[in-house]
Amino acid sequence: MQSHATRVVVLGMGGTIAGRSASAHDNVGYVAGVAPIEELVATAEHDGASVEAESVAQIDSKDLGWDELRRLIARVAHHAARVDVQGLVVTHGTDTLEETAYALHRTLGFEKPVVITGAMRPASSLQADGPQNLRDALTVARDAAARGVLVCMAGRVHAGDAVRKVHPYRLDAFSSGDAGATALVEEGVVRWLREPRVDADPVRLAAFDAPWPWIEIVTSAAGAEARTVDALLAAGVQGLVVAATGNGTLHRALEAALERAAGAGVPVLRATRCRDGRIIDVRGEPARIPSAGALTPVQARIELALRRLAARA
Ligand code: SIN
Repeated sequence: MQSHATRVVVLGMGGTIAGRSASAHDNVGYVAGVAPIEELVATAEHDGASVEAESVAQIDSKDLGWDELRRLIARVAHHAARVDVQGLVVTHGTDTLEETAYALHRTLGFEKPVVITGAMRPASSLQADGPQNLRDALTVARDAAARGVLVCMAGRVHAGDAVRKVHPYRLDAFSSGDAGATALVEEGVVRWLREPRVDADPVRLAAFDAPWPWIEIVTSAAGAEARTVDALLAAGVQGLVVAATGNGTLHRALEAALERAAGAGVPVLRATRCRDGRIIDVRGEPARIPSAGALTPVQARIELALRRLAARA
């Protein structure tokens, strides 16, 4: 049976894509999250698409909190359930886009595409990349092969659970690490490099109104000290991610403190602080602190928070 869903809903979260500066030459001294989502959609006009815009937040994504994330998850789920909606696009600040992409990937678990995009230059810039990124994201959301959570930036499409921001200024600021890009968008055409994925075992957020658990990231580095972990434990931290060296190794001072934390019932995950790659477990030697595999430290932090919320349900 042919689907009659042709509409794309664009949800605005703010960010540089909606940012403005006083001068078209100023690409760093701007205010993020100013331009309304309707204006962004108009500048990225997409031939033949039926597009609906809704503002969820108008923030600089460095200030992203659980309230905004929870609202976004709820609005995405609401629109995705509509029979007339083919897919969704989310415009978002690039600074915490990695966290939002991972949170959506882990909580939605449905087939309809949710394509997140943003910009590295404000809407007022001579070099504004937002209109093309949004246009490309709309193209991906309308593509018959698109599914799950995807991120579309600078003509490349990344999987929601693989994407990471790797540059603070370059227009092509995102990578999928070892996984490689999922697709390319070239002149309005999507060229798929691999099949997009949907999380087969998403976290069910029944305890949706519960407060966001307090999870912190500590870094294993030269001179790392146990007292960082001890202070967090004493203050009531509910979960810890350690950004570990190389293949998940830990400074001995930190390792002992983290084992104490785990022993006290605080979940701890070990993520590599290397930009790419994943932790490869030592064969036949069960890790005392579980590895987060290919997750980046900020993704691992979302993972622990979601697990805690799900456990409360
Ligand atoms: C933000 O993350 O909201 C500001 C920076 C950006 O979007 O590139």
